[in-house]
Amino acid sequence: MRSFVWHPYTQMNDWKKFDVISKGKGMWLYDSHGNAMMDGVASMWCNVWGHSNKELTDSMIKQSKKLQHSSLFNLTNDKAEELAEKLVKLAPEMYRVFYSDDGSTAMEISAKMALQYWNNIGEKRTRFVSLENGYHGDTIGAMSLGYVPLFFSKFKSALFPVLRTPSPNKYRIPKGYSFEDYQEFCLEKIEQTLSKNDNIAAFVMESGAQIAGGVVIYPKGFQGKISKMCKKYNVLFILDEIATGFGRLGSMVEYQTQESTPDIVSFGKMLSGGYLPLAATLANKKVYDSFLGEYKDMKHFFHGHTFTGNPLACATALTNISLYKKYNLMSKIKKREAQIQSYIEEISNLSLVGDVRHKGMLVGIELISNKKTKTPISPQKRLPQKVFIEAKKHGIYQRTLGHIIMVVPPLAISEQELDFLLDGTIKTIKNVSSQV
Ligand SMILES: Cc1ncc(COP(=O)(O)O)c(C=O)c1O
Repeated sequence: MRSFVWHPYTQMNDWKKFDVISKGKGMWLYDSHGNAMMDGVASMWCNVWGHSNKELTDSMIKQSKKLQHSSLFNLTNDKAEELAEKLVKLAPEMYRVFYSDDGSTAMEISAKMALQYWNNIGEKRTRFVSLENGYHGDTIGAMSLGYVPLFFSKFKSALFPVLRTPSPNKYRIPKGYSFEDYQEFCLEKIEQTLSKNDNIAAFVMESGAQIAGGVVIYPKGFQGKISKMCKKYNVLFILDEIATGFGRLGSMVEYQTQESTPDIVSFGKMLSGGYLPLAATLANKKVYDSFLGEYKDMKHFFHGHTFTGNPLACATALTNISLYKKYNLMSKIKKREAQIQSYIEEISNLSLVGDVRHKGMLVGIELISNKKTKTPISPQKRLPQKVFIEAKKHGIYQRTLGHIIMVVPPLAISEQELDFLLDGTIKTIKNVSSQV
């Protein structure tokens, strides 16, 4: 089949042919020949209920017959209203909802909101602080906020400068530190940065864990302490729950579990169950109120998109959220989390595995070439492609992040399906061992 599609993060020369997915059912993706693959990465970490879920597709059909799109410029729509109310009730301290289409845009909005907040209240604050290896999306602002060198170095000249502080990766602590000491060191660096610079608009971080930058799960109390520091130094605290909220780490709203309170927080990916592009940036009352005034004050938020508040996506998100309660998804996730935990020792003992990091329905398996030196498998070894090919032999669709294998299934995966996925992942790692 001739293809005109240019694929993301893909050397197109390497891929003469892609599997053409033409159907999805439950946890399974089917190619045009009818071959099944389990969706081991929840279609880029967004799928909640599996594919072609009847309750979600029925609600999409119903809404598409009523209103497929109408703008939020000068108008509103019932589904955008209902969903905003639901989100504000779900997310403690949040007051208003600004809609967009994807995670990157939601983070652009967070940044613009923060900058305009300070402008609106008449303070000159223009700098952001974020954690090293944070990831907030692929647009220019989002790439600036979160900087993963491997992904973004080519665009550096276009990015705005951001102050960065170290993140507490337990597996890669500098020599001479215990993990506890290193956490303290990371927090001290943040405190120094916030206290020494008087032009900081906001501190930005992923909530609960960094994923794309290497699967770093924060130690208990880390995020809460940063939240308190932001209050102490009067800096806005921006959280990114695009990949970690809505159950991925085991909580609907991860910042609650982390005992932290943002001024601005973004959700995406699983918000619509992974069925339609939708993201939301929520702000607290302090931030929102700064945008109110006389028209001539020009304090209103200068941002908008064609599909902001799309009723079809909002209706789908509403159905998705109702299903969490109906099927008691959070308690099921707890059981699946324990099931994953029972595999960790076996995975850790595999020759290629340096570290396994796990929380909720997120697993990052770091593959290394030497357990002592912890040297990551070199990009020259083409690990991602090898893992993809081997995993497929075991009936799994897997996408690695560099030298880290991600197991990020749809949240509603059953016990048997999860066993299949984890057993297949182990077989894949074993088979890849002889090839790198
Ligand atoms: C934490 C985080 N923020 C933002 C994004 C960007 O979301 P999107 O790919 O929908 O633009 C991602 C995507 O993986 C993410 O993991």
